[in-house]
Amino acid sequence: MNKNSPIGIFDSGVGGLSVAREIFKQLPGEDIIYFGDTAHVPYGEKTVEQLISYGDQITQFLIEKGAKVIVVACNTSSAVSLSHLLNKFNISIIDVISPSIDIAIQATQNNKIGIIGTVATINSGMHKKLLVAKKPDLEVYPVACPKFVPLVEKGDVAGEEARQAAYEYLMPLKEKGVDSLILGCTHYPFLEKVIKEVLGDAVQIIDPALETVLLTKKILKEQNLLNEQEQGKKVFYVSGNPDSFLITGEKFLGDTLQNVKKVTL
Ligand code: DGL
Repeated sequence: MNKNSPIGIFDSGVGGLSVAREIFKQLPGEDIIYFGDTAHVPYGEKTVEQLISYGDQITQFLIEKGAKVIVVACNTSSAVSLSHLLNKFNISIIDVISPSIDIAIQATQNNKIGIIGTVATINSGMHKKLLVAKKPDLEVYPVACPKFVPLVEKGDVAGEEARQAAYEYLMPLKEKGVDSLILGCTHYPFLEKVIKEVLGDAVQIIDPALETVLLTKKILKEQNLLNEQEQGKKVFYVSGNPDSFLITGEKFLGDTLQNVKKVTL
């Protein structure tokens, strides 16, 4: 493993692209290998055993492809399989939940924080546990949003169905008076328009991508593994249909996604 090795990044599908685009912004010289486990999306409805097994196989695959660091660009895997991955693999592994905690605490003025995520993430209680451990007087309101991920996978992020789902999930949070909302699923930044339509400008929307990539940069720097070449290569693998990943991915990230290959783990 050296500076020229790629950053490995994974999610159940296109959601991790919200983290990948931040890598392209902050670390343009890095090569990346992205794995979208589209044969198993949505992760939010899978069991703990399944999620651990998927995370294990994907991490193994990315390491075999030469990854120098793994970014778990999925809150569901971060909540459920991170400790297994940290115990098993001898490589830096960065999750997307811990980086959201401090910024949410800094953002709130009234101590009322909303969290939206998949059913598995919300059931894990991970965000709430980490938030309250740092600031016991917080009022934390978690809401599972199972309709969101299938809409984002289809690229249907601004239509009537997306709007209706956003109203259904977010109006109760608005009524509770939250002033900050953690996007606890990497698919949700692509729904920002409809989320903002419901919550308005007074609620701060927290996308953990920025802090996650700042942390990745810090770790690579400490390990002398930062790649400062001009333009990194980007390779995308999926376990399901490469064409639908490409079509939705291009909607969000433009033509960065030319290279999508199917693999079966
Ligand atoms: N994007 C993922 C997350 O952050 C997984 C969503 C899913 O597949 O249900 O939780």
